[in-house]
Amino acid sequence: MKTIETLARSQVGAPRRADDADPGFGVYVHWPFCLAKCPYCDFNSHVRATPIDEGRFVSALRAELAHRAAATRGRTVRSIFFGGGTPSLMRPQTVQSVIDAIGANWSVEADAEITLEANPTSVETGRFRGYRAAGVNRLSIGVQALDDADLKALGRRHNVAEAVEAVRIAASIFPRYSFDLIYARPGQTEKAWRAELREAMKLAGEHLSLYQLTIEPDTIFERLRRAGKLTIPDDELARVLFDATQEIAESGGLPAYEVSNHARLGAESRHNLIYWRYGEYAGVGPGAHGRLVTPEGRRALATEKHPEMWLTQVESEGHGLVENAPLSAEEQGDEFLLMGLRLREGVDRARFEALSGRRLKQRQIDDLAAEGFIEEDEKGRIRVTNVGMPLLDSIVADLAA
Ligand SMILES: C[S@@+](CC[C@H](N)C(=O)[O-])C[C@H]1O[C@@H](n2cnc3c(N)ncnc32)[C@H](O)[C@@H]1O
Ligand code: SF4
Repeated sequence: MKTIETLARSQVGAPRRADDADPGFGVYVHWPFCLAKCPYCDFNSHVRATPIDEGRFVSALRAELAHRAAATRGRTVRSIFFGGGTPSLMRPQTVQSVIDAIGANWSVEADAEITLEANPTSVETGRFRGYRAAGVNRLSIGVQALDDADLKALGRRHNVAEAVEAVRIAASIFPRYSFDLIYARPGQTEKAWRAELREAMKLAGEHLSLYQLTIEPDTIFERLRRAGKLTIPDDELARVLFDATQEIAESGGLPAYEVSNHARLGAESRHNLIYWRYGEYAGVGPGAHGRLVTPEGRRALATEKHPEMWLTQVESEGHGLVENAPLSAEEQGDEFLLMGLRLREGVDRARFEALSGRRLKQRQIDDLAAEGFIEEDEKGRIRVTNVGMPLLDSIVADLAA
């Protein structure tokens, strides 16, 4: 007989929690172009004055896919993710060609998750049906704020009405959708964020990404902050905003399963779970990263970031890789902790020890647990608590030391 829990899970799709013995294999495709550069963003995104030759990019992406497939024979693709940049600037035909090329190189799970990141301008919303027809079954929309003045300050090219419309259209076309918001924005109060997040919960489906604004090096926001022209919430207010985020999202049925990602049970992003559970993924396109397991061990791969240089390299060498290096046991252990401790489900101590060839120091664990930052269960899983989450980086550094 099914328990209430298994019944509840079966209603929301395949539960994949704590299934990190086999995190699976995914393919990441990077589209490096945007209509404008947002002042906070340090992703590999570029603005071009002339139209992009999508046919040339498709040929190069095909070449890279064949190159990675040769190193990963026998894998089955669990997820495909079109990230950017702004993939919703790609023609649906371009997306279709890339999905077809993935299917020609690997077998693909029948219910593989195929996500595309979209910006909510009206032109891009007009392409949503085309993406669905191409095989995309999950849309991730960059809403960022539900406040027109703040959208302007973030350099966004859409307003709240367009964002709401994009989410509604996505909900009517795609089986799954998510959207992103950025909080701890300049001048944001707890009251304003609470009200905004409550509005967002009404629009949300099964998944929400709620990112705390980070001032990244070499961005316009960093220059403004250094010049004293931009003030963001201090650590104390940021903590209050983080706690409010957890409270509102959880009580609305979207608890955090990762530092910034919230979902109903079973509705987590399968693609991102592959990264965080330290699975295997091939990355193609400019500035894409990969982690592949070869007979000689796990390797770190990365491609040329500059779009036109990447194109030229792929056209002459058949791949755009500028890094393809073995990872030492110690590096694998560090990466495993860095990724896995982001997840609420935490990490399996035995898997850390198998990957890294070293044991975690019990004293270190006990000290962090005594401070309430982490907890360990009887099966040897270590988790970062809500109290510890904002201190994640230093907790990982302590454990890895
Ligand atoms: C690849 S980016 C953007 C995808 C898409 N181009 C867009 O802007 O909607 C993915 C997400 O990262 C988040 N993000 C980017 N830069 C950030 C920053 N400096 N601080 C916090 N979140 C950020 C945004 O929420 C964004 O939607
Ligand atoms: S936030 Fe998105 S739209 Fe803005 S520059 Fe970065 S990738 Fe492009």
